[in-house]
Amino acid sequence: MITVVGNLKGGCGKSTITFNLAVWLARRGIDVVTFDLDPQATLSDAVEVRREEGVQPDVKVFRSESDPARIMANHQGEVLVDVGASNLWAMRQAIGQADRILSPVPPSQADVWSTARFLEIVKETASAKSRRPEICLFVNRADTHPMLRESDETEAALGSLPGITLLKTRICQRTAYRRSFSEGRAVFELAPGGKAAQEFQELVAMLYPDLITSGNSLQSRSSQ
Ligand SMILES: Nc1ncnc2c1ncn2[C@@H]1O[C@H](COP(=O)(O)OP(=O)(O)O)[C@@H](O)[C@H]1O
Ligand SMILES: [Mg+2]
Repeated sequence: MITVVGNLKGGCGKSTITFNLAVWLARRGIDVVTFDLDPQATLSDAVEVRREEGVQPDVKVFRSESDPARIMANHQGEVLVDVGASNLWAMRQAIGQADRILSPVPPSQADVWSTARFLEIVKETASAKSRRPEICLFVNRADTHPMLRESDETEAALGSLPGITLLKTRICQRTAYRRSFSEGRAVFELAPGGKAAQEFQELVAMLYPDLITSGNSLQSRSSQ
């Protein structure tokens, strides 16, 4: 399955989510490749840190000069693509190949607006295909303070956008994600029982339910 992790705004967590998903899949022995189609190359940098730190398993990452469309079309396993607005051509290429679009959205009005614009690009690009990709949105960087309403409001606004699936799970703003990049490790490798790991597990359960039900779960792996 080709999952494109995208949105128009920088900082919404595209590279963070792509990196953590890639590690999660790779740790289950899934044949996963990633594409870093954003000139910022954050995903490539995080993978590089992981290699320097000698953390296994490795994550395969290709850049835009590697003819992504051809590699994606020929790869039989899982594909994750990190795309940003600074290369709209690559974003459209990736959307054209996608089975699923995954979009992290921070809790703010500006992010809701830019997500709506991103959906226009997705629909325009995917309309040439007979089968449209599923579009999954979820709130990332949610406030942990219970009194703050922005995440609820953002979810309500996202839920009213046409033709999307709103994932009923949130990833909160957690320090573990910043460490994730600086140490080249996924949040569930840094602190397997932590809140960030639990939230991430909820997200993957929605995205890859077959892998969870096959018994190959994070819990059984981390408790070994
Ligand atoms: N849930 C989160 N909690 C805390 N920090 C986060 C979270 N998601 C992303 N970040 C941080 O926000 C910054 C931007 O994230 P990044 O994944 O590079 O965004 P994008 O790829 O969309 O530009 C990074 O420093 C990252 O560690
Ligand atoms: Mg990025």
